[in-house]
Amino acid sequence: MPPSVETFDPQAAIRAELLEGLLAEPAHIASKYFYDALGCKLFEAICELPEYALTRNEAAIFAEHGAAMARAIGPGCTLIDLGAGNCAKAAALFPLLHPSQYVPIDISQDFLLESVARLQPRFAHIEMTPVAQDFSEHLQLPASVREQHRLFFYPGSSIGNFSPSQALALLRRMRALCLGSDGGVLIGIDLLKDKAVLEAAYDDALGLTAAFNLNLLRHVNRLAGTDFDVKQWLHRAHFNAALGRVEMHLLAAEDVRLSWPGQQRFFMSGESIHTENSYKYSIEGFTELLQRAGFEVQGQWTDADQGFAVIHARASAG
Ligand SMILES: C[S@@+](CC[C@H](N)C(=O)[O-])C[C@H]1O[C@@H](n2cnc3c(N)ncnc32)[C@H](O)[C@@H]1O
Repeated sequence: MPPSVETFDPQAAIRAELLEGLLAEPAHIASKYFYDALGCKLFEAICELPEYALTRNEAAIFAEHGAAMARAIGPGCTLIDLGAGNCAKAAALFPLLHPSQYVPIDISQDFLLESVARLQPRFAHIEMTPVAQDFSEHLQLPASVREQHRLFFYPGSSIGNFSPSQALALLRRMRALCLGSDGGVLIGIDLLKDKAVLEAAYDDALGLTAAFNLNLLRHVNRLAGTDFDVKQWLHRAHFNAALGRVEMHLLAAEDVRLSWPGQQRFFMSGESIHTENSYKYSIEGFTELLQRAGFEVQGQWTDADQGFAVIHARASAG
């Protein structure tokens, strides 16, 4: 008899993860599923909103201090861009950082490959190695990624989508992958601030963030075979001060019977599906997390309003 072969079906694993979350009490969907083609475009539009100052604050920091960061990092790094999206933030730094290799990693494969195809002709001298991967559980680098001088670039405060303990595990993984290579991280962190400002950033007047949140349900329909009707759900965002995070939820606007092949779940009017956490940090709090992960902070820069920070840290041998 031939040996049995265990086959891993990524689509089945995604379906299983989503359905487990939908059956949980309270129900939840991981925020990494926001990014289908429309989700990626909606996120780009959100970055243009007056309420979403985060992207502008970060851009102001790179504009003012990018040269100082580049001096601290040194030329020729292997630039590994986590959740690269449209790759625009890294591309803006190329003329300062002069990376020898660019490794954008993203779960949204088509959007990533389109972004790199647009970028490569503008920077023909930089080797580009796109990697389609969900790094939330297992960040891995293919053998074609150079070991020298690795710099993990994680802008946009995306690390805030992980709980502090998950963020610590991811930082430790980054350290393991760059230790001994004069490696480090360049990370953007949204800072704790006034509750009203934080909540407006996740519940804008035009309703783009609401559309971004609701679009998740259509993506889940395609991934898991559910029959969500976005008209039955409402976007909600609030700052949970005790946990230091903005939470996004979808609330059933009426009683909803959600079905998928072989199963169903009933949601009462007002019941919630938790779709995103965005943890906010103080510089001290995030510095402590970096130290626990084995990094030494080399430099930190903030915008004029102290709304956002970019931190450069090196993997320490100890
Ligand atoms: C909020 S966007 C940020 C895009 C860009 N880096 C920026 O700062 O503007 C998050 C990006 O990370 C990707 N992403 C989210 N979760 C991910 C995961 N677990 N693994 C890989 N990519 C992920 C999304 O597809 C999306 O492109």
